[in-house]
Amino acid sequence: MAREQWGTKLGFMLAAMGSAVGLGNIWRFSFVAGNNGGGAFLLLYLVFVFLIGIPLLLAEVSIGRKAKSDVIGSYQKLAPGTPWFLTGFFGVFSAFLILSFYAVVAGWSLYYLFHYVTGDFFQAPAEGGYEGAFGGFITQEWQPLFWSALFMTMTIVIVFSGVKKGIETANKVFMPLLALLLLALAGVSLSLDGSMEGLSFLFRPDWSALTQPSIYVQALGQAFFSLSLGMGALLTYGSYLSDDKRLPGAAVGIGLMDTFFAVISGIVIFPAVFAFNIDPSSGPPLVFITLPSIFEQMPLGGIAGLLFFFALSLAALSSAISILEVPTAYFMRLFRWSRTKASVIVGAIMFFLGISVSLGFGIWSGITPIGERNILDSMDYIASNILLPLGGLSMALFVGWYFTKSTALKAVDFGDNVIGNVWYGLVKYLLPVMIIIIFISSIL
Ligand code: PHE
Ligand code: NA
Repeated sequence: MAREQWGTKLGFMLAAMGSAVGLGNIWRFSFVAGNNGGGAFLLLYLVFVFLIGIPLLLAEVSIGRKAKSDVIGSYQKLAPGTPWFLTGFFGVFSAFLILSFYAVVAGWSLYYLFHYVTGDFFQAPAEGGYEGAFGGFITQEWQPLFWSALFMTMTIVIVFSGVKKGIETANKVFMPLLALLLLALAGVSLSLDGSMEGLSFLFRPDWSALTQPSIYVQALGQAFFSLSLGMGALLTYGSYLSDDKRLPGAAVGIGLMDTFFAVISGIVIFPAVFAFNIDPSSGPPLVFITLPSIFEQMPLGGIAGLLFFFALSLAALSSAISILEVPTAYFMRLFRWSRTKASVIVGAIMFFLGISVSLGFGIWSGITPIGERNILDSMDYIASNILLPLGGLSMALFVGWYFTKSTALKAVDFGDNVIGNVWYGLVKYLLPVMIIIIFISSIL
């Protein structure tokens, strides 16, 4: 059977944007920025997105498009008989880690959506408000697992429906809707009393934060996570792209779109954080408490909440399918499994791994694998701050050092001109050096 392909280049763009824009922009961005001092973090994050993220995104997609295979197979095909393919395992491994916790958080989003549909969340719950309601929900055993299972099922269904009919079609609807809603919310959040404090937290860098070594790893990890980089999600999506579709514009478009969503959600969240006296470093629950509080203040806020959690769930779904696709594509080739079989088995394993993540907010909250981090934070830390940058490093080294210069330029549709040389220099020298330095400094 012939390998699947995107219907159009726009379809690819939307799918890649769908992969990039997700919980990372709203949920993860806001609590990581909140933990790392706001403005200085945002600045560093932007530097990494433009200097490392977008050039690497181009490299990653080009590997897939050139090889037309999954994240491990691509290395085997382009560098036969070498150990390069081993670095592809970083990607498959991070896919398992990331989707296991991603599906738990996406399950929370579905739960909120449900309570907006029924109208329960139009007003803050009587006891303990949204904070109490959220805490009461995530500490339970069965309820969160139910929502996470539902989310994983939807992800699997889209992935086994195929690249074009499933993934491409879904993304065409989700993205524009999410953009509209976030813009409207930003307007409301800015009108709250005390919104200036939130804005200055986000946009006025406290330079002293830059002396904290951990902020560099965190900003790099956030750039990789948010851009879907280093795992092979974009490599795999690139492998369904034919050679006549030009890459550079697409890479820049995907990067800009993702950054736009991150900055806008910062503008939505932080004014509200300060207006409602919530601690900006309250971690993963942050958006699940601030956002409903904003909606409650709005005229027709219940409807806005409903639409928002609908869009957030869709954004999560369009990212989750790209994560599931990484091991699915690998197992389809390796074991000659059908798409259905591969996606169901991989998705089920991820769901089971996710059970520990969910219980980590309740009966297993005493389990802290890395430092003070609970199970979700530990898995997230290993995947986002270690495995994704390592996967990205190997892609940069592969394109910069294993390919000849003319092969590399041709792979990304650049000529031997100024832009081409700047990109090549970044990928070959600056990117690996920066990733390695940040890495070593975080270990020390
Ligand atoms: N980029 C997605 C988000 O921001 C998450 C993701 C990470 C998707 C890695 C694919 C690969 O939500
Ligand atoms: Na993102």
